[in-house]
Amino acid sequence: MKDPIKGFSKLSKAAKLEWLVTNNFEDAEAARTVLTAYWHEDEALQKRHDEFIENTMSNFYMPYGVAPNFKINGKLYTVPMAIEESSVVAAAAKSAAFWMTRGGFKTEVLGTEKIGHVHFMYTGDASALKEDFSSLEQELLQATAELTANMVARGGGITSIKLIDATDRLEDYYQLEVTFETCDSMGANFINSNLEEMAKCLENFTDNHERLDANSLEVVMRILSNYTPRCIVRAGVSCPVEELASEGVSATEFARKFKRAIAIANAEPYRATTHNKGIMNGIDGVIIATGNDFRAVEAACHTHASRSGSYKSLTGCSVENGVFTFWIEIPLSLGVVGGLTKLHPLVVKSLEMLGNPGAEELMGIVAVSGLAQNFAALRALVTTGIQKGHMKMHLMNILTQLEASSEEKIHIANYFKDKVPHHREVVNYFCELRGVPVPKVGQ
Ligand code: HMG
Repeated sequence: MKDPIKGFSKLSKAAKLEWLVTNNFEDAEAARTVLTAYWHEDEALQKRHDEFIENTMSNFYMPYGVAPNFKINGKLYTVPMAIEESSVVAAAAKSAAFWMTRGGFKTEVLGTEKIGHVHFMYTGDASALKEDFSSLEQELLQATAELTANMVARGGGITSIKLIDATDRLEDYYQLEVTFETCDSMGANFINSNLEEMAKCLENFTDNHERLDANSLEVVMRILSNYTPRCIVRAGVSCPVEELASEGVSATEFARKFKRAIAIANAEPYRATTHNKGIMNGIDGVIIATGNDFRAVEAACHTHASRSGSYKSLTGCSVENGVFTFWIEIPLSLGVVGGLTKLHPLVVKSLEMLGNPGAEELMGIVAVSGLAQNFAALRALVTTGIQKGHMKMHLMNILTQLEASSEEKIHIANYFKDKVPHHREVVNYFCELRGVPVPKVGQ
C-alpha cells in the first residue's frame, strides 16, 4: 500500500517526477527514462504542453493520420485524424474515395444553438415567479449585457430564456433554461459565466420581490448542457443502387443488406452500441485533431441516439426508386476559436489543412467523417466480414509486439497478402520463420 502524499500539486515538475517514479514503479530509473523520453526537446513547446493540464509528467503520443479525397459540398478536403486504432484512417480514406466519384457528401447545419441551465429548488409558491417572469427575464438580460457584448457583436449571444417547472420530475425543481449562440466557439466558458451571473440575478430577484421568498430558493447548479439537440448537423450521400456492387456482392444485394444492417442497429441496442462506436471512430479522430472536446461530443451523440427511449443507430438509410441514400444527423457543438485551437501547434495545422473552416463547416466535416466510417464498417460487415481489412491493417501492431525485424515484417506481410492475418496464425508463422517453438497460451 502506497503512502498518500499531500501538496503534490505544489511541487516542481522535477520533484513530482521523483516522487512518481520512486513510489509507483519497481524500476524507478526505467520509468524515468520512458517518461522523459517523450519530453519535447524544445523547452518552450514542452512548457506549453505541460500547462494544458495539471501535474503533467510526459506527453502521450497518438498517431496523427490523414484521409484524403473527402468531397464535401463540392469542395475537396484532406481530413486529419488523431486515433490509436488501426484501420480507421484507411477505412475513412476508402469511403472518401468511393463517394468522391458518386457526387460526394452533402451537409446541412440544422441549428447552432447551445443550452445551459440554472438548476434551482423553490419550496414557496412559484406562481409569482411564473407571472413575473418577463421582468425577471429583462433583469437577467441586463445582468449579462456586459458579458455578452462581444458575442452579440459577432452575431451571437443569448437567444432565449425560459422558466421551466420541472416539479413533475423532481420535487421543488425548477430551471432557467437559456439558449446561446456562440458563433465559432464551443462556448462552454461563455455559457457558464452567463449562467453564474444569472443565478446571482435570480437570487436578487427573489430577495427584492415582495411576493417571493428568498429563503425558499436554493440555486443548486449553473452549468451548460453537453446535450445540444439544437446544434445539429446532417450529412448524406446518395447514388443509384447499381453503383454499389462490392466485394463480389451484387449492387441490389449490397443495398438490401446494408439497409437491413441499419434496421438491426435500430432494433437491437447491443448492435447499435457497436454500430455507433464505429461512427465515433470517425468522429473522435477529427475532434481530437482539431482540439475539440470528444467527451462532450460522445455524450451528446449517445444521448441523441437514445432520444426515442431506446438506444438506436445514428445513421439512416433508404433505398427508393433505385436510389440508395445514406445519412447521419447528430448534435455537434464544436469550436474553431478558444480552447486549444490556437495553442496546440498540430491543432493549428489541422485547421489549416481543412482550410480554416468556421464552426459550421467543421460540423459538416466531422459528421461526414462519422458517416464515411460507418459506410466502410457496414460495407465490410455485409460483405467480407470486418476481420479481413481490420486485421490486414493491424498486422504491423502484432509484428511489432513480436519484435519482428523490418525484413521479417516485409516477408510476413507478403505472406498474409491474400489471407486474413488472425493473431494466432501470425504468431505461428512468425515462429516457424524464426525456427522457434510457438509459445503456449499465456506465455
Ligand atoms: P482494401 O480494399 O483491402 O484496401 O480495404 P486497398 O489496399 O485495396 O486500398 C483501397 C483504399 O483503402 C486505399 O486507396 C486507401 O484509400 C485505403 P489508395 O490510397 O490506395 O488509393 N487504404 C489505406 N489507406 C491508408 N493506409 C493503408 C490503407 N489501406 C487501404 N494501409 C480497409 C482495407 C481496411 C480500408 C477496408 O477493409 C475497410 O474499410 N474495412 C473496415 C475497417 C473498419 O471499419 N475499421 C474500424 C475499426 S473496426 C471497429 O471498431 C468498428 C466496427 O465494429 C463498427 C461496426 O461494427 O459497425 C467495425
